Amino acid sequence: MIISQGVMPAFTAPAATEEECPSSGAGDPLSQCFGEDVNPLSPNCNIAPISARLDEQQRLMVGGCLLTELAQTYGTPLYVLDEATVRAACRGYREALAQAYPGPSLALYASKANSSLAITALVASEGLGLDAVSAGELLTALRGGMPAERIVLHGNNKSRQEIALAIEHGVTVVVDNWLDLEHLADIASGQPTPARLMVRFTPGIECHTHDYIRTGHLDSKFGFDPDQLETVLRHLSSCPWAWVDGLHAHIGSQIFELEPHRDLAGVMADALALARSMGHPCRDLNVGGGLGIRYIQSDDPPTIQRWVEAVAGSVVRACNSRGLALPRLLCEPGRSLIGTAGVTLYSVGSRKAIPGGRTYLSVDGGMSDNPRPITYNSLYTAVLADRPLTTPSTAVDTVTLAGKHCESGDVLLTDLQLPPCRAGEVVVVFATGAYNASMASNYNRIPRPATVLVNGGLADVVQQREEPEDLLRYDRLPARLS
Ligand code: LLP
Repeated sequence: MIISQGVMPAFTAPAATEEECPSSGAGDPLSQCFGEDVNPLSPNCNIAPISARLDEQQRLMVGGCLLTELAQTYGTPLYVLDEATVRAACRGYREALAQAYPGPSLALYASKANSSLAITALVASEGLGLDAVSAGELLTALRGGMPAERIVLHGNNKSRQEIALAIEHGVTVVVDNWLDLEHLADIASGQPTPARLMVRFTPGIECHTHDYIRTGHLDSKFGFDPDQLETVLRHLSSCPWAWVDGLHAHIGSQIFELEPHRDLAGVMADALALARSMGHPCRDLNVGGGLGIRYIQSDDPPTIQRWVEAVAGSVVRACNSRGLALPRLLCEPGRSLIGTAGVTLYSVGSRKAIPGGRTYLSVDGGMSDNPRPITYNSLYTAVLADRPLTTPSTAVDTVTLAGKHCESGDVLLTDLQLPPCRAGEVVVVFATGAYNASMASNYNRIPRPATVLVNGGLADVVQQREEPEDLLRYDRLPARLS
């Protein structure tokens, strides 16, 4: 099982002498956050953002900002995103691709992980491209300054309008099914230049991750069945409006194994040989995303560099052995680009200690800002912002960190060990940069948090907090009810 299932103990620092920094013991969990085990080149391997530090009072800072000060200034729950971590991950992909792949390459940020104007501008400035799956993500990418030629539009049920928007801007459309082709024929045949397309197919590769986030196995809603690929490509040969410039496959998400990605290269190279033999240029090979991140100490994902080396090496070997000219290699990382850049700050609220049972510590957010625990049983790591360290002599409470929603399953972490704390203290949950804000809801009419981007002691609100009033904006009260 590759999705994190273990339980994270509280950060326990070795008993410190006056001169000793208690955060520095190799092997202790905290060393993965602030100590010598931090991998600045592959942020997906750390639990905390790479800029996480303790101030002289041992309070937690990210991007040069004290987390409790951010909570005070911007309120809680608050998503905090560390710019340095996102940039390091972008650089990690860019440099590893340049080193490991002899042909051209481009990493596309899978914006479903966390989509906003600011994040788009950030990844565009790092030279990456972007994968969008809806008109909303596409508009965000275009307005955020991502050049259209570096964007691809995905989706297993794109609307005609979404496809038209992509074509209008010269965005590459990843064809997923026959309905896409019908829409495209309507929209693109009237255009002066053919539409740039990639064809997505299901590679038939199994990987170990949560069932909900596996996509490469044959029983998947995404992409053409591999048996249909030849028919689709033949059909496209007869469409003057279509320019088939690539193939796409994606096997799943939060994957720690490299073997499925290596296997994918062979399957894709066969498809590439087929497409090119029919006269399709197919200059691009897009192998999707999927590299996992460390949510808890026992998670051990490969580094970005190892992942890229495995993927690039297999693509080169697969192409060479089939006598294929090397394609441009595209990949679509989402979680590994932004997951560990994010932390969520909550204020501690009520406490319920059940005699002989659990102690519930409730916070002012929960499943509406982080639906991953209730959806996938995902595990997280959390500490108190101002008292992240414990020593063997520190008293700790074992608590269940509960959300504020009307649902018993609204629990963010179980068996979390925290120093006894008061209402109002700030809890930090790590590795919430991916698939939290983007999957947030307004369940119980709870407004979604703000996001602040931090760097070098500066904090900028990049997504404003919703207010309860905002949630009424789209309600209409029929006259007969008022
Ligand atoms: N490309 C395609 C076509 C995808 O479907 C995905 C993710 C990615 C790239 C990026 O994968 P990543 O590098 O982030 O693993 N909500 C789930 C994750 C769903 C992933 C969906 N597709 C979660 O919270 O774990």
